[in-house]
Amino acid sequence: MKQIIAVDIKTRKVEPTRCKTDMLIVGRFSDGTSLDKSGRALDEKLGGAIRRLVKLGDFVGKAGTNTILYGDGKIPAQRVMLIGLGEPKKVTPETIRKAAATAANQAVNMKLRTLSLALHQAAHGRLDMAQMGKAMAEGVYFGSYRYDEFVTESPNGRRSALKVEVVDGQAAPIQALNRGLAAGAVIGRAQSYARTIANRPGNVITPPTLAKAAVEMARGTSRLRCTVFDARQLRANKMGGILAVGAGSKNEPRLIVLKYTPATKPAKGLPRVALVGKAVTFDSGGISIKPSADMDQMKLDKTGGIAVLAAMKAVAELGLPVNVWGLIPSAENLPGGSSYRPGDIVTTYSGKTVEILNTDAEGRMILCDALAYAVKQKFETIIDVATLTGACMVALGQHKAGLMSNDDDLVAQLRQAADDSGENVWHLPCGDEYADEMKSKIADLRNTGGRWGGACTAAAFLRQFVGETKWAHLDIAGMDIFQKATDHATVGSTGFGVRLLVTYLMNLTR
Ligand code: BES
Ligand code: MN
Ligand code: ZN
Repeated sequence: MKQIIAVDIKTRKVEPTRCKTDMLIVGRFSDGTSLDKSGRALDEKLGGAIRRLVKLGDFVGKAGTNTILYGDGKIPAQRVMLIGLGEPKKVTPETIRKAAATAANQAVNMKLRTLSLALHQAAHGRLDMAQMGKAMAEGVYFGSYRYDEFVTESPNGRRSALKVEVVDGQAAPIQALNRGLAAGAVIGRAQSYARTIANRPGNVITPPTLAKAAVEMARGTSRLRCTVFDARQLRANKMGGILAVGAGSKNEPRLIVLKYTPATKPAKGLPRVALVGKAVTFDSGGISIKPSADMDQMKLDKTGGIAVLAAMKAVAELGLPVNVWGLIPSAENLPGGSSYRPGDIVTTYSGKTVEILNTDAEGRMILCDALAYAVKQKFETIIDVATLTGACMVALGQHKAGLMSNDDDLVAQLRQAADDSGENVWHLPCGDEYADEMKSKIADLRNTGGRWGGACTAAAFLRQFVGETKWAHLDIAGMDIFQKATDHATVGSTGFGVRLLVTYLMNLTR
């Protein structure tokens, strides 16, 4: 099968004016001040072409805009792309990440072989160089990503590789950039891996094949061990939630467990962390079947689990000194003669019973078993990631994931990781008033609440399964499903959560 675009990113000590490349990328703020140092040097070599363009008002540096000039033999670069960075006081690592992604996306569209970034120069002094190195690497992987492994007839094609370098004439910035670049490349590659597995359809990725992919991924590194609970083991362990959801499909459910052994001993006081991700490989709704419009998008109901899978890959490649496991409950939610039904009462792994009112509220049913398992394994911090509710998407749109938690410090840490990674979150409640709505008259819990606040009642349901353990829940429903192509991303899965989770763990170990 076709590989995704092979991206290679390094730094190179060279003045942008002397850089031989298919396209050189320079950033510019919108505050009307002059160009950065390399912008000025380039302008001179180009006979004032940049200045003229700015003067005519054709490019003012607004965030999200860009324009291309040609080297015309005056500089070794074939093209110079100016990218708008917006207002200087609003610049964040995400500004740089997005700009790098836009450049890489264009480079793939234009079938370029090489791309040279000097984006860090404009924000020099405003942002940390290492952080910019990380952001540029992550952005390049993000923007160049394509999903075309099943396209056999492609008249326009694309190149199979893109060589990227971050260029600067000075040694000191190169050194600082390098510190972030390596980690950014690992995270970027992990995110692309996540997107590919996520974009694969329901006839290709089923719970068993997802488990196979996890086993194969873990084989690629000595620090990961992957064990898989098959249907028989799920039954032996009385994981009734996962089994109920998976009952309607002949593709049997699984619980994938990824155990990481850190390269060096974690610092004292660091919590043992469990990452738990929902992997419903296809969510038809089951007997409470969904409307048919856009149901194809429900192949992406596995992206929480895949974010955990890919985060574990990055953690292992980075060798982070932290104790962390990945737990991925996986099932296919289909209607059929053996499906679970509305009205059923399911005994979950924790022993708590749940009255099923809607088989489409299946995510919480598989997660509750995995959460209870994490508690039993004595993890001190549990973070779950799930495309859990349409309600969260209604509340926050496609810009931020819902963050619910029982611990304020964990909320603060995840907010910081969101700022650093550009994968945004918004804190939402999940307290007792919401949990009260999830009480059943004939079982311990019911699997749906009232009409309102569906993201919060779903989170309050999950909270019942973690006891006193520090826990946070990320509802990513809007972040990875129904994604359209933009300037900096192709259609389909965004791999949301990979950067956020890995950055959270990196920050813990700083
Ligand atoms: N996977 C869906 C949530 C979802 C819906 C994500 C649309 C992205 C876009 C989840 O399993 C689901 O169906 N949730 C129901 C819960 C309801 C039955 C309480 C929902 O949100 O409608
Ligand atoms: Mn559902
Ligand atoms: Zn679902």
